[in-house]
Parts: sequence; structure tokens; C-alpha cells
Amino acid sequence: MALTGFIYTENLTKHYGGIKAINNLNLKVDSREIFGFLGPNGAGKTTTIRVLTTRTLPTSGFASINGFDVVKERNKVKRTIGIVQQHLSLDLNLTVRENMEFHARIHRLDSSTRKKRINDLLEYVELWDYVDKMVDTLSGGMKKKAAIVCSLLHEPKLLFLDEPTVGLDAQARRHMWALMRRLNKDGTTIFLTTHYIEEAEALCNRVGIIYHGRLITVGKPLELRNNLGSVVVETSTADKETQYHFFADREAATKYVKRLPPEPQTVIIRDSNLEDVFIEHTGEKVGTPDPVASEDIASDAALFL
Ligand SMILES: Nc1ncnc2c1ncn2[C@@H]1O[C@H](COP(=O)(O)OP(=O)(O)OP(=O)(O)O)[C@@H](O)[C@H]1O
Ligand SMILES: [Mg+2]
Repeated sequence: MALTGFIYTENLTKHYGGIKAINNLNLKVDSREIFGFLGPNGAGKTTTIRVLTTRTLPTSGFASINGFDVVKERNKVKRTIGIVQQHLSLDLNLTVRENMEFHARIHRLDSSTRKKRINDLLEYVELWDYVDKMVDTLSGGMKKKAAIVCSLLHEPKLLFLDEPTVGLDAQARRHMWALMRRLNKDGTTIFLTTHYIEEAEALCNRVGIIYHGRLITVGKPLELRNNLGSVVVETSTADKETQYHFFADREAATKYVKRLPPEPQTVIIRDSNLEDVFIEHTGEKVGTPDPVASEDIASDAALFL
């Protein structure tokens, strides 16, 4: 089988009873990409990450990371990847340093390597002031940073981030984006999941839209928008749902608006975005992430910032 792509899947499928959490997923992500998986609650984002990171077995199909089979070569896959899970897997009652020590030992790093990597990473993400604080007392943004440094101790080539900015306020989110960009620039391939349209657009070279376990469409954010039409005209009247009409450019959109019947209606001309792409393919909005988790993390972030 020709395995091209740093992440490669062929008809990857995962069933939980009658639920097709992943349904015939065919995906290729190249090394050095920031690839985003965009989808609503229950779309299959976390399940995909769980299969790719060897935490759960696929029902059928194939997946490899850097050429290593996620079922048959689990240890090689694990050495290649780092993961920051949707719900933090840090020990809240330990300090940042103690959590890092623990993760470094799991990866069997010797004591001098441990020391050097911990210091280097603390420097890299500017966590020095928090290193001896219990994780439980940190803001949401700092907790995520702590989870990221723990996932990087064995210097993985590929980092999976499951909803890295859920519940963070705008400032903490932007810090997280900057960190992801820097990691990517320094050589780490990034696969992230998100509900946030603006995150996918701002951060990802390519985006896959996943819905009910199926990859609906994949491409560069701009390409996906242009395929639909880069300009959208929204028309709405009191008794009808909003209608969306897509055009290649503003000129075509304006022409269309001028020809609209003179009945009273609200007309908006704007650039299209990934939310439009999502709605067009699925008939639904991406929606908001799990509210309980978001509130927890948001209140933490608010305390800190
Ligand atoms: N361990 C499990 N047992 C049974 N069903 C599961 C399990 N894990 C996930 N599912 C189901 O598989 C589907 C996909 O879930 P998944 O967690 O992958 O979605 P998601 O896109 O990550 O959603 P969210 O945005 O809410 O995190 C859902 O219908 C979910 O209920
Ligand atoms: Mg999830």
C-alpha cells in the first residue's frame, strides 16, 4: 500500500454499537501542516484523534502516522506523536514541574535530558513563574500550556490538540494560536480539532469538515470559500428564513442585489466564511462546544487575566 502523507487514513471506520463515530474516513495530512478538523458536537473529531493516537482500535480501515500502522506499530506511532486531550489529563494536585517530571519519566528520559527539556520548554512557553504552582490553581490558558509542554517532552514530530482553545477568552486564545504557529514554524506538524470557524480560518493551512463521522470536504480555507463563492448576499424578510446567495465577486453580488424585487427586506453583502461552507454542506451551524467544560475553563481564564 502506498502510504503518502504524514497522517494517512484509508476507509477508516469506528463504530460504537450502532453509532458510526467515524465513517470511511480518507485523509492525508502532510508533514509541517497545521491541519484543522472542524465539526459540531458528536461529529467524530475526538474519536478520530483516539484512533490515530492508538488509544482505541478502528473497527475497519487503515491509518498510519509517518508510515507506521496505528494498529500494528503502536509504539513507533506513540514515539512520533504528542497529544493534548480535550479534557485535561494533568494531575491537578501536582505542580507544573511535577507533572512534567512524571511525563518525562513515562517517556523514559534520563535525568539530564529530563532536566534540560523541562527547562527549555518552560522557557519556550514562558511558564517559569508558574512552574511550582499546583495545576489546579492555574488559569485555563495556563493549564493548556502546561498540558502542551507535557506533551512535547519526548520531542514529537506531530502534535494532536483536541479543542485547544475551548473556553479560553479572546486573549488566552490568541496566545495559544501564537504558540501553535511557533511550534509549527519550528518543525512540528499540528492536527487540531475545533468548533471555532475563526480559529480554523486563522490558523490552519487546510481544514477538513467532519459531520456525522464523514469527511464532508477538505481544503485550504480560502479554496473552500471560493468554491462556494467568495461573496455572499443574505436576504431576509419577516416571514421567511434568511436566504444565502453566493457570487464570485462583489461586482456580481451587487448586480444581483440591484435586480432584487422592491419588496421590503434586509439585504447584507459580505465575504463568505467557513461557517457558510459548513452550512451549505450540512444544512446546520457548527454550534458551540460542550458548555460545561467551556464554563469551567472560562472562569479559570477570567480569574487569571
Ligand atoms: N466510548 C464511546 N462509547 C460510545 N459512543 C461513543 C464513545 N465515544 C464517542 N462516542 C460517540 O461517537 C460519536 C462521535 O463522538 P466524538 O467524541 O468523537 O465527537 P466529537 O466530534 O469529538 O464531539 P465534541 O465536539 O462534543 O467533542 C458521538 O455520537 C459519541 O456519542
Ligand atoms: Mg471531542
